[in-house]
Amino acid sequence: MKAINIQSYTSTPSTLLPTTVPTPRPSPSTPLLIRITHCSPQHADLLHAQGAHQNNNAKRGWCHPPFVLGYDFAGVVAAIHPAASTGGLQRGDRVFGASIGAFAEYVAVTASAVRKVPVGVSSAAACAMAGQAVSYAAVVHVARVRAGETVLVSGASGGLGSACCAVATAVGARVFALTGDEGKAGVMRRDGGVDGVVVLDGGGKWVGEVKKATEGRGVDVVLDNTGMVDDALRCLAYGGRVVVLGFAARKGVMEGVKMDKLLLKSATVTGYRFGESGRREPGVLEEIWKGYVGMMESGKLKPILYGNYRGLDDVGRALGDLEARKVYGKIVIKVSDPEENAKL
Ligand SMILES: NC(=O)c1ccc[n+]([C@@H]2O[C@H](COP(=O)([O-])OP(=O)(O)OC[C@H]3O[C@@H](n4cnc5c(N)ncnc54)[C@H](OP(=O)(O)O)[C@@H]3O)[C@@H](O)[C@H]2O)c1
Repeated sequence: MKAINIQSYTSTPSTLLPTTVPTPRPSPSTPLLIRITHCSPQHADLLHAQGAHQNNNAKRGWCHPPFVLGYDFAGVVAAIHPAASTGGLQRGDRVFGASIGAFAEYVAVTASAVRKVPVGVSSAAACAMAGQAVSYAAVVHVARVRAGETVLVSGASGGLGSACCAVATAVGARVFALTGDEGKAGVMRRDGGVDGVVVLDGGGKWVGEVKKATEGRGVDVVLDNTGMVDDALRCLAYGGRVVVLGFAARKGVMEGVKMDKLLLKSATVTGYRFGESGRREPGVLEEIWKGYVGMMESGKLKPILYGNYRGLDDVGRALGDLEARKVYGKIVIKVSDPEENAKL
């Protein structure tokens, strides 16, 4: 099969091209063979390709070359190992999920890595939502956002950010989106369904705008996708919560946080690593997926889709666009048609 195979880490993910690798087979540990119809590059794929993600850590990580890149996908169940439980999934079912190896024609996965595409949802939309259960979990399970609270989302136009905005809005919060430029602010005003948009400036004037929008009180919750805890604490109301989800803006350099601000505001700062918490607490993960898929089915979560990408040849271009910060919402690359038959 064709796949984006990482033989060694690369500093230029935009130049990656598909090569031919062995097609995976269903096995007792990964019993479902999925024919991939769509895949969706995310920030973590850039880090995986560069060897800059915690999953690449030589001692603690599990993602080392050679490996097939990619995480989020939608596809069709093409084959099932006879000796394994598949959670009720059958050959031909349309599914979506996340598992390393998604930038390929086929991937073999565990039953818990995929869910059936909800009725009325397209495979492309499901693919765009595959990685965003993180956002649902952060809003509902970690920050425990309540109706009427105010929420600020950093990196709001990004994959996790736009889904954080949608989930927080769905639970009845007043949501403010923080974006890097006026273009992305426009997208969030038009398609983000949020109550307000604040554009970052080089200085700290934008913090004043957040305060003004909250009648001087500050926000109850900051969902931080970019690595800005110090700034988040400046925007926070007394007793507020910050959830650290990612460091998209930090280029690998972690920030120092002024601890007195935590004390003075009686603030809570919580880190959240979705993959690891799911491995440690599978029961909670199931609960998260149930709630998240339910929200998708109710029509409250609709992805914002960016650009037009077709085939694995377009993975490099997509990663380059992500790296250049051109992208808002999610890129979805169409790899094959859901209606085709498996060519095994
Ligand atoms: N906690 C978890 O379990 C988990 C799971 C998956 C991913 N993550 C992490 O969460 C973060 C967000 O992921 P994502 O998939 O939503 O990424 P994404 O789609 O690329 O969005 C990131 C957003 O951050 C903003 N940003 C600010 N400075 C940036 C910079 N220097 N480079 C790139 N983006 C920058 C961008 O918005 P503006 O241009 O408007 O500022 C962009 O829209 C990443 O750090 C990712 O590794 C965490």
